[in-house]
Amino acid sequence: MAVIIGLINLQKAKSKDRYHEQILEELKAKIYSMAIVQNHLHNNKSLVKVELSLYLKEIIQNLHESYDEGKKIKLFLDLDKVVLDISKGIPIGLVANEILTNSFKYAFSENKASNELKVSVKRKLNSVEIKFKDNGTGYNPEELQSGMGLELIQNLTEQIDGSLEIKIDQGVEINIEFPIVD
Ligand SMILES: Nc1ncnc2c1ncn2[C@@H]1O[C@H](COP(=O)(O)OP(=O)(O)O)[C@@H](O)[C@H]1O
Ligand SMILES: [Mg+2]
Repeated sequence: MAVIIGLINLQKAKSKDRYHEQILEELKAKIYSMAIVQNHLHNNKSLVKVELSLYLKEIIQNLHESYDEGKKIKLFLDLDKVVLDISKGIPIGLVANEILTNSFKYAFSENKASNELKVSVKRKLNSVEIKFKDNGTGYNPEELQSGMGLELIQNLTEQIDGSLEIKIDQGVEINIEFPIVD
């Protein structure tokens, strides 16, 4: 995946406008978030398991560094330890990447008193609940130009038999719950 990221960087250097640069930048973030999950596999010396809170933290930090741009976004993380099979770990990493990218890109502005982003992971008996909440502008679902991000979030959540709930009220809150077996 490092090779692919290198190729995208080369293309980006050739791009002549901000629009295409951004598309390539977001493509890179998607691949990078998968690479982060895979890296945790190799570090653990386990072939199939990854620990969600560890790689989620890294995905959040990476996006925070790329998108903060003086908005002084405060992060609140409350992450239970959850060991996942890689077959769920990768889709969840991608879902998190899309949801967080949207919050970082669209929710916040520089002149707001306090920009806050909360992420929590709760380990329940037979499931895991992940909540993402920003206190930003929100959006009107009826006027939405639904892009690839929201579609990916829906498809990937279905892929792991999860449920998806989006609430818009003083920002965007997204709750995802999916089953796990030990
Ligand atoms: N957290 C958020 N805060 C404000 N607006 C949002 C948020 N998430 C999504 N949106 C709005 O929903 C639109 C669709 O998002 P998405 O499907 O990810 O496509 P894209 O990011 O490519 O525009 C965004 O363009 C933005 O207007
Ligand atoms: Mg998006």
